Amino acid sequence: MTDVSDGVLHTLFRSDQGGHEQVVLCQDRATGLKAVIAIHSTALGPALGGTRFYPYASEEEAVADALNLARGMSYKNAMAGLDHGGGKAVIIGDPERIKTEELLLAYGRFVASLGGRYVTACDVGTYVADMDVVARECRWTTGRSPENGGAGDSSVLTAFGVFQGMRASAQHLWGDPTLRGRKVGIAGVGKVGRHLVRHLLDDGAEVVITDVRTDSVQRILDQHPTGVTAVADTDALIRVDGLDIYAPCALGGALNDDSVTVLTAKIVCGAANNQLAHTGVEKDLADRGILYAPDYVVNAGGVIQVADELHGFDFDRCKAKAAKIFDTTLAIFARAKEDGIPPAAAADRIAEQRMAEARRG
Ligand SMILES: NC(=O)c1ccc[n+]([C@@H]2O[C@H](COP(=O)([O-])OP(=O)(O)OC[C@H]3O[C@@H](n4cnc5c(N)ncnc54)[C@H](O)[C@@H]3O)[C@@H](O)[C@H]2O)c1
Repeated sequence: MTDVSDGVLHTLFRSDQGGHEQVVLCQDRATGLKAVIAIHSTALGPALGGTRFYPYASEEEAVADALNLARGMSYKNAMAGLDHGGGKAVIIGDPERIKTEELLLAYGRFVASLGGRYVTACDVGTYVADMDVVARECRWTTGRSPENGGAGDSSVLTAFGVFQGMRASAQHLWGDPTLRGRKVGIAGVGKVGRHLVRHLLDDGAEVVITDVRTDSVQRILDQHPTGVTAVADTDALIRVDGLDIYAPCALGGALNDDSVTVLTAKIVCGAANNQLAHTGVEKDLADRGILYAPDYVVNAGGVIQVADELHGFDFDRCKAKAAKIFDTTLAIFARAKEDGIPPAAAADRIAEQRMAEARRG
C-alpha cells in the first residue's frame, strides 16, 4: 500500500480547498528528479503557474504545497483577466545541490507530456536560465530569457502592478490616487521591492525600507540619496510612526496575529504571495480599519508578463494590462463594501464567478 497521507487525498478529492483536475507525480531516477505537477483548473484555458524548486521535508508536504499553489494560481489568473487556468509544479530537493541541466531537461519532458494542459514558468528556486533549459524539451514553457525569445525578469511589471494597487487603495481610502507626501514602508527590497522604491519616489512618496540583507538596503540608499530611510527589521517597520502604507515584498505570512495588532499603516499593499498567515487575518485587518489590497490581485504583473510571452512578448501591451490592476483593485473594494466582506473575500468571489461563467459558457 502506497503511503500517501490521507490529508493530501482529502485536500484533493473531498475538501472545499481542492477540486483539482489533475495531479501528476514524476520521477526520473537517473537525474534524481522528483516532481509534482498540479493542475487546479483549465476552465479559463491552459493552467499556468511556476515551478518551485524546494527542499520539502516530505513528499506529502510537497504535494500539499503544489495543490495549494495551483489553486492560488487559478484565482490569480482569473482575477488578472487571463485566459489561463491555475497550475503549479514543485521539484523536491535543494536546488543548490541537485539542480542540473539533465534534471531540468527530464522535468521538461514531463511537462511536455501533458500536451499543453500545463504551462510552466519560474518560481522560488527556479530562474530565467532554468526555463531556457526546460524549454529545450517543452514548448509550454515561459519566463525565458530575451536571448531565447522570452521576456526575461518579471519583477519590473510586478512592481508596476503593485504600485497601481497602491494608487487604487489611496483613491479608495483618501479620495486621491497620488502617493505624494505619503509614508510607505517596504519590507524586502529584492527584485520587486527595489523597482517599487523608484515608482514611489517618482510619485513624491517618502519611503522607509528594511531587508535582512544589509547589502540590498545599502544599494537602495546609495541609489537614492534622498527620500529613503532604513530601519533595522520588519518589526520596526510595521511600528513606524505615521506610516501610511505597508508593502510586504519579502516572504509569505507577513500579516499574522502579532503584526496586525501593532501595524501603524492604514493600507497594506505589497508583492509577497500569501501575505495572510491564516484565515481570519483579513477580518482582523478590516476590524482595525486597515485596507488590505489582496496580494494575488496586485502582484499579477509577473504572470501577466509570462502569459504574454506565449504570444510573443510586447512590453507596452503588458504594461497596459498591468495598469488595469488599478481598476481591478478598486472594483474589489467596491464589491467588499457592497457585500459587507473583507477585500480578500471579495476578490475570491469575483475570481470564482469568472471561472464559473467560463465553465457554463
Ligand atoms: N518577482 C516577481 O515577478 C514576483 C511576482 C509575484 C509575486 N512575487 C513575490 O514577491 C515577493 C518578492 O519577490 P522578489 O522577486 O523581489 O524576491 P527577491 O528574493 O528578489 O526579494 C525578496 C527580498 O526580501 C528579503 N527578505 C527575506 N526575508 C526577509 C525578512 N524577514 N525581512 C525583510 N526582508 C526579507 C530578501 O533578502 C530579498 O532581498 C516574493 O514573495 C515573491 O513570491 C514576485
